[in-house]
Amino acid sequence: MAFTIVQLPGLTPTHSLLLLLAVTPILYFLYSVLYNLYLSPLAEFPGPKLWACSEFFYNRAVVSGIPHRKFLNFFEQYGPVVRITPTELIFSSAQAHRDVYGGTHAHRQLDGKKDYLAKDERVYNNFGLEEDHMISTLDTNVHARQRRMLATAFSDKSVREQEPMLIDHIDKLIASIEKYSVTECKDIDIKSWIDYTTFDITGYLVFGESFHCLDDAVLHPWVAFMTTSVRAVVLMSVSFKLPGMQTLWPYLLPKRVTAALEEHQALSLNRLEQRLAEGQTTEKADLVGLLLKNGITQDTERLIIAGSETSATLVTGALFFLLTHASAYARLVDEIRTTFSTTDSITALAASDLPYLHAVIHESLRMYPPSTSQFSRRTPRGGVIIDGYEVPGDTYVGVPHYAANRYSGNFRDANRWIPERWIDGSDRFQGDSREAMQPFGGGRHRCLGVK
Ligand code: HEM
Repeated sequence: MAFTIVQLPGLTPTHSLLLLLAVTPILYFLYSVLYNLYLSPLAEFPGPKLWACSEFFYNRAVVSGIPHRKFLNFFEQYGPVVRITPTELIFSSAQAHRDVYGGTHAHRQLDGKKDYLAKDERVYNNFGLEEDHMISTLDTNVHARQRRMLATAFSDKSVREQEPMLIDHIDKLIASIEKYSVTECKDIDIKSWIDYTTFDITGYLVFGESFHCLDDAVLHPWVAFMTTSVRAVVLMSVSFKLPGMQTLWPYLLPKRVTAALEEHQALSLNRLEQRLAEGQTTEKADLVGLLLKNGITQDTERLIIAGSETSATLVTGALFFLLTHASAYARLVDEIRTTFSTTDSITALAASDLPYLHAVIHESLRMYPPSTSQFSRRTPRGGVIIDGYEVPGDTYVGVPHYAANRYSGNFRDANRWIPERWIDGSDRFQGDSREAMQPFGGGRHRCLGVK
């Protein structure tokens, strides 16, 4: 087929071609802005116009670490559903949470079939790793199989068996705080000490062996690398949305980062191999052991991060709020001291009956959720109903935790830490939509570590 270039008056064919090349992207850009604002099936949904035009604004917020605060402002300004990119909606209600993640049941699609929504393939991916991992895999069979295997470790019986190990670590934490802070009168960074504790405990749960951060009073280098690399994972998840970036990424990393990454991977492999060499042992009921029993060896970093960083964030948040709310602190101390006469009588089972402790934990999860994001899902071709809205197919949808928890449409005095709101009989908070807060997710991906 032969092409002819229309020669514009006063311009040579070459100049006409150059002009065409320069104008095409501008026309395409204008078309996509007009399409996203007025013609897209999501055009009717409220939200900031700039964010609806291009993914750039959302990605910029992610890289700056502030999307959770932006989303809260959007809910307050636009209401319970907001369009945050050309193809993505966020919701705030309890019903939306059930519709997106499935609650305990799969939700119903527009075409009448029942199924869970698929994970967002742009966010959940293996970042170049070969094996499928239950936390990131898009294969529902792989996920279901691995989840079934690991679930054994989270049974009531297994958790009770871990109690002496948990108490041992907490005793070490208290002894260290007393040593450094009381005896030696030093300032201590309590966030770091809580990190040491949750990483040691999670190391034990996953590998059957502590990282000994509490003993050494410093983050194990392997753990330290993991916590700092979380930022890189955020950058990767944003840049991987650009075509070709997954292939280009290794060439764009600075040499020292690649070297650190390789060293870390070698350490990870070494640790996993040590554990694998021990094989299945009867003494160890750790997660690697359970996977091993079923012939699976996989990257354990995600399990460590899933269990430790989340728990450390919650405990740090709860401590912060207790130390800045004297009356709540006094009420909790009173509840503990009137229930238990000795430290030894405090067990996980007995502590689970303390209503004010429960309220403090719930309120801290609400105000300071360890996972702030929306864990987005993709709607099926036929579309779905979410919170009463007809959402077209291939739309990314989610309920962002931090913004839903602090949205005034869900909770009264939403930005104040008030544990009493979780205690039955409190008239003032009757109107709170408690189920809008789902810090552990829902449906088939609901957190395995929650009890
Ligand atoms: C306060 C503490 C915790 C919070 C707030 C939390 C939150 C969450 C959330 C929101 C999800 C769902 C993610 C999604 O939909 O993709 C999740 C999944 C998961 N969590 Fe937790 N988590 C916590 C502690 C733990 C602990 C202690 C463990 C175990 C050591 C754990 C292991 C997991 C695993 C394995 C999954 C993946 C489940 C699946 O995809 O089927 N988490 N967690």
